Amino acid sequence: MANHRRIRPLSDYVLLEGRNVWTVNANPGVAVRGESLRKFRGVEHRRWDPNRSKLGAGLLRTRKDPSNLLPKPGSTVLYLGAGHGTTISHLHDHLCGASNTHRGRLVAVDLAPRCLRDLTHLAESRPGLVPVLGDARKFDAWGVLVPSRIDWLFQDVAQAGQVEIFLSAVRRFLSKDGIGLLSLKAASERHQDGGDTDIFATAVARLSAEVELIEHINLTGFEDQHALFIIRRK
Ligand SMILES: C[S@@+](CC[C@H](N)C(=O)[O-])C[C@H]1O[C@@H](n2cnc3c(N)ncnc32)[C@H](O)[C@@H]1O
Repeated sequence: MANHRRIRPLSDYVLLEGRNVWTVNANPGVAVRGESLRKFRGVEHRRWDPNRSKLGAGLLRTRKDPSNLLPKPGSTVLYLGAGHGTTISHLHDHLCGASNTHRGRLVAVDLAPRCLRDLTHLAESRPGLVPVLGDARKFDAWGVLVPSRIDWLFQDVAQAGQVEIFLSAVRRFLSKDGIGLLSLKAASERHQDGGDTDIFATAVARLSAEVELIEHINLTGFEDQHALFIIRRK
């Protein structure tokens, strides 16, 4: 018997099908990391693997409306710690679309040259994606690429001091009421006393002192020792 899973759009370009997330492929026929391609109503989608993307995991794990975790298509957003572009590619599907028909701009910063090579390759077929070789802590060097305040910011740098790096970026780039998402890797904060629970509790206290903490999403099962914090700038 056919397995009819419930399909729920999170935006015009992202849909939930049971426990699978799919994005409309902005580069039809091409999988970025070997993910499944599948047509829904004749339109090719790529499966967003929650085990390889903390944002993808957050969309499945949030107790609130998952569409609130996504930026507005066609807007300018900033992503710190872009890696090899796995999450970036799905965000690009949603934000920019094929040939950047939505006119979005995705500024993707990473300090590893090997990541920049992959991001630059990805950007060749995905206009609107702007790879930047830079340090998330030194935004004077690349901040000119984000000329006005933005409504959505994501950070996944997996290095010590993640919360303070994030709050600096929030102050510098995020508009009032803008949404920020911080992926926090507890193992990168081992200089702090205590275990993962203490590290996350310290992050909650520090974030709450400066921004509105909307949700603390535990990513265990998708990415152990990771949490995703969703904030709104006051
Ligand atoms: C966990 S990976 C990112 C994975 C990516 N977000 C994804 O979902 O596909 C963390 C990345 O942060 C980068 N990184 C670490 N410290 C950084 C910093 N200070 N500024 C910019 N990037 C940094 C690393 O080079 C690495 O590529």
